[in-house]
Amino acid sequence: MGVRGKHIVLGVSGSIAAYKAADLASKLIQAGARVSVIMTQAAREFITPLTFRSITHQPVVTDWWDPASDLSIQHVALAESADAMVVAPATADLLAKLAAGLADDPLCGTALATQAPLLLAPAMDAHMFEHPATQQNLRTLQERGATVVGPERGRLASGLTGTGRLAAAETIMGHLAALLGRQGDLKGYKIVVSAGPTEEPLDPVRHIANRSSGKMGFAIAEAARDRGARVTLVTGPTALPDPPGLRTVHIRTALNLRDRVQEEVRDAHAIIMAAAPADFRPASMAEQKIKKGAEATMVVELVKNPDIIAETRGDFLKIGFAAESEELLKNARTKLVEKGLDLIVANDITAENSGFAVDTNKVFLLEPSGQVTELPLLLKTEVADRILDRVVELLAARGKRPVGV
Ligand code: CTP
Repeated sequence: MGVRGKHIVLGVSGSIAAYKAADLASKLIQAGARVSVIMTQAAREFITPLTFRSITHQPVVTDWWDPASDLSIQHVALAESADAMVVAPATADLLAKLAAGLADDPLCGTALATQAPLLLAPAMDAHMFEHPATQQNLRTLQERGATVVGPERGRLASGLTGTGRLAAAETIMGHLAALLGRQGDLKGYKIVVSAGPTEEPLDPVRHIANRSSGKMGFAIAEAARDRGARVTLVTGPTALPDPPGLRTVHIRTALNLRDRVQEEVRDAHAIIMAAAPADFRPASMAEQKIKKGAEATMVVELVKNPDIIAETRGDFLKIGFAAESEELLKNARTKLVEKGLDLIVANDITAENSGFAVDTNKVFLLEPSGQVTELPLLLKTEVADRILDRVVELLAARGKRPVGV
């Protein structure tokens, strides 16, 4: 999924941020895309075609009129074979040309000729970006269906701070993956995913938490987005950035998580509960920092948190996780039944390279019918897709219809 196997036409226009397009091209290639680069004359003042040719192993289109180039006469072929076209960086000048429908260079010509979705990542001086002409051009292009990513606020090449920085490569790629997946097998479905730990406060500076990194839940949310789902990710505190192209809701405690999950599942087709909510919370939170005092021991009274997935009720699929250190399948089956789940992902946290904080997971999928599917050790991104493959089948088996499709 994502950009793997897709043909991405990357247009590079003349901004100092053009050098960052080399990093984007490299990341796209690493993610399994085929990348064809088209550069404007101005872009070539900042970075050479050889850079892109070396990264992409494809000819770079620079000129309509180069008699030695096959591609220069095949710009329409590039436009036709593109799965998506990305312009990064897109300068104010280039946006104006695209908005006007000009086709006097291969980049604009390809953008005009292609039927593939268009993603624009502007980068320019902050005042140029704020200018009504640029804003109008961006609106025009968005109305025609283009996706605009960024620019971001920060330090600009001029030394000033403002909005004009090219969006990060990861952000552009996240939006691109979402764009490519718009017609995916989860199109029209709303999926709620929970992720990460919860923090249960003891006093203003201390809390009880756990080691959940959020990686599995984030991977599921992104994979569902890349298959066309409308995704809400409800997450506890993690080190991970909000994934582009989906809605992220931040929570802290298990009680917050319950409230947000209950609200979000109302119109959802499935909830995938990958969060690790604390089972207990301190009976009360001290208003001031707790002093250590003279005693050698301290007792904290804990009260039980609600079981969030068990108490959600409604016409949606319920998918849970069971992270176990012993009797994996037996414990997972008990949770499947007691929590009324349609599927549970059982995960042996003692297995090598599986469980918390690593990028891989070794899981079994258990269902009420007794069906058990063992998956090999996979990347969490791959586990996410395997879980969603089953979710797609279960949605169909339940006769769940996508909305607005
Ligand atoms: N879960 C939940 N609410 C809780 C605790 C867990 O919704 N208060 C969900 C988790 O998100 C997961 C599933 O229930 O999908 C199983 O979580 P796990 O921590 O493995 O199980 P517990 O029910 O907490 O049981 P135990 O800690 O005794 O293993």
